[in-house]
Amino acid sequence: MIVNTELEQKGNLFPSKIINYKKDVDTLHFSTKNGVALQVTVVRDSVIRFRYSTTGKFENDFSYGVTIHASRGYSFLDVTEDETHYSITTSKLICKVEKQSLQVRLFDAIDNKLINEDEIGFHWEECYQHGGDIVKMSKTCQKSESFYGLGDKPVDVNLKGKRFENWATDSYAFGKNTDPIYKAIPFYTAIQDNKAYGIFFDNTFKTSFDFAQERRNVTSFWAQGGEMNYYFIYGPQMEDVVKNYTDLTGKPHALPPLWALGFHQCKWSYYPEANVKEVTNTFRDLKIPCDAIYLDIDYMDGFRCFTWDKNHFPDPKRMVKELEDDGFKTVVIIDPGIKIDIEYAVFKEALDKDYFCKRADGPYMKGKVWPGECYFPDYTKPEVREWWSGLFKELIEDIGVKGVWNDMNEPAVMDVPNKSFPDDVRHDYDGNPCSHRKAHNVYGTQMARATYHGLKKYAYPKRPFVITRSAYSGAQRYTSTWMGDNIASWEHLAIANNQAQRMAMSGFSFAGSDIGGFAEQPQGELFARWIQLGVFHAFCRVHSSGDHGAQEPWVFGEEITNIVRKFVELRYQLLPYLYTSFWKYINDGTPILKSLVLYDQEDIATHYRSDEFIYGEQILVCPIQEPNAKGRRMYIPRGKWYNFWTDELVEGGKEMWVDADLDSMPMFIKEGAVIPKYPVQQYVGEKKFDEITLDVYYKKGKESSKLYDDAHDGYDYKKGRFSLRTFKVTGKKKELIIQQHKRGEFNADYTKFNMVFHNLPFAITSIQIDNVEIKLENVNTAKTQAITIDKEFTELHLFGK
Ligand code: GLC
Repeated sequence: MIVNTELEQKGNLFPSKIINYKKDVDTLHFSTKNGVALQVTVVRDSVIRFRYSTTGKFENDFSYGVTIHASRGYSFLDVTEDETHYSITTSKLICKVEKQSLQVRLFDAIDNKLINEDEIGFHWEECYQHGGDIVKMSKTCQKSESFYGLGDKPVDVNLKGKRFENWATDSYAFGKNTDPIYKAIPFYTAIQDNKAYGIFFDNTFKTSFDFAQERRNVTSFWAQGGEMNYYFIYGPQMEDVVKNYTDLTGKPHALPPLWALGFHQCKWSYYPEANVKEVTNTFRDLKIPCDAIYLDIDYMDGFRCFTWDKNHFPDPKRMVKELEDDGFKTVVIIDPGIKIDIEYAVFKEALDKDYFCKRADGPYMKGKVWPGECYFPDYTKPEVREWWSGLFKELIEDIGVKGVWNDMNEPAVMDVPNKSFPDDVRHDYDGNPCSHRKAHNVYGTQMARATYHGLKKYAYPKRPFVITRSAYSGAQRYTSTWMGDNIASWEHLAIANNQAQRMAMSGFSFAGSDIGGFAEQPQGELFARWIQLGVFHAFCRVHSSGDHGAQEPWVFGEEITNIVRKFVELRYQLLPYLYTSFWKYINDGTPILKSLVLYDQEDIATHYRSDEFIYGEQILVCPIQEPNAKGRRMYIPRGKWYNFWTDELVEGGKEMWVDADLDSMPMFIKEGAVIPKYPVQQYVGEKKFDEITLDVYYKKGKESSKLYDDAHDGYDYKKGRFSLRTFKVTGKKKELIIQQHKRGEFNADYTKFNMVFHNLPFAITSIQIDNVEIKLENVNTAKTQAITIDKEFTELHLFGK
């Protein structure tokens, strides 16, 4: 037999010693004797980018993940060299590159402690199947190190001991540990010795991560192609890592309209029109607040996107208007698969303009989805995105639809084993032509991006609302998301809880699950418990496949209906709190949900907690995740917390039992918090109100809270028409002082605050507002002490005895 020795499996290959070094402003270029190149770019003092090439040549530097708006610049940069290393020092980090091996170690610039080091470091394997490299990185994993993030993985919060793959996949009825599912977010945070750092592996090929599964002291990540290109993001606080990652990959371009933070009802499918109306009317009859109603694929004519089934929806414009008059915004689904039908205008135009994806050897990429055989637009081409965004004119501008739901955009293809396109399909990739191996994971994001631009244009001057199923890092700039086709089971309630937390720590806070479960049918108890969780997710929508029966809040009997109403009302009351949290998210990347580890990493008891989370910054929530429960044990983070239902004050830093019958759930408020509340409305903007409530939770000491507000839609807030109020609470033994600081030009309709004081340890004897004493008759000194005051107060001072 003739053996071609050239084809011998070479196994892992490694860089050899550095022979060349050059500094170019913020970037250091190293090259090794065997032709490997490394670029180290200081993006910020705490963010360093590493890029490796096995050929000495780099690809065109283009990323869908990193936003052009990302902050850049550092306060300090110094490079030194000794016999064995190059050292790059910023004000936060010291990065040492070893001359012999190109291995990297990172230290905290303040205390000089090691944060992270390469184990083998960069290496690669030649992959003859694809004619390229599999690029790999391995790092040392410390004994006490923990790992978090990676988007929608349906597993417990801490990823240690597990291995994952990122390849967007249509995963109907996925289960716990199913991997991969819909999203590809190659970013994680690690914590070790109270120092948190993040790694964003910005490579859109199929990527893999191993968190000390294969070897207990090694963490590694690799990709089936492309470059080893990752960002090292230092905290040392996990929250700063997440904020910096969100800054790098982008915050949402705009706040959502407030209605989008209301309650949404969906099903596959509500049709005909009479059925839609029956559902919306029942919401109003039963007084369960709701802001959005969804139309799934059956509203279309034979599943052709941008068409209507005129038998079921004879006059969509009238219907949408009537729904709107009743406070319902209509959201419609739009999938990427365009039915092959030469009579169908969207298909014809895309064909004429050559906008569909093609196989490598020429023909269009043909695949089956709901409409039967389809072609698929190449959203990675700017011209195609522009065309796609224009298709929304009629739906949005003429018919009045307010939101668009992008589904099946992994992209999903039916009746094929890999559930998607074959690898050879070609994509433009914004002028960097490539195969589907590289474009697959970004396909859904580029579709949602094109959709977003369409809505932005035609909804103007209102804000767009988009929801997507698939996503790559950065998708949060354009869209909200849900977790795909889950199941009506208790296990899935827990999965939904973990996924929403995980998405938030992966820079994507505007997320939620199909409440109640998409496949199969929940019992009333499960539905109620899921609603209780769902009202604390930024995106809050009931959705089900419908073929297992109805899933509206009232189909489980009166007891459940009442519980659903109670919790949806609570969501509507807390809207100003959620809106403020959303503002923080778009302002500086603060995640809207915080797993306990993200809230208090110093307390190692939080490192393996998965159930409890902080909603915003001051509300602790823990869903009940099993049947027949009268309460549960949960961990209360350090500090003092008020039980939301009883006002009982508990000291955290421990596990405890918390009562929660079916009509309740464990919920706590941080002491010193000022929680804003609206009156209950059936939909956002239903009522004009003259006052809003501020629940003030007494604390001996200081605590600060914020309240953000604006017109709840439109863009005036970007021109300064917003209001940001900071409430500083200072509690003493017999005194409580609340100072208000105001910023911004927006003036809300309401003129007063109804301040409700929880747990004042003294009886009020006198009150001063802005140093003027007010009469005590105005004070409600009943059980909960409350006082209504002008919203423009600067200082409220309570004295007691
Ligand atoms: C997919 C979606 C689901 C939708 C269905 C029909 O399964 O994940 O939400 O209802 O398609 O459009």
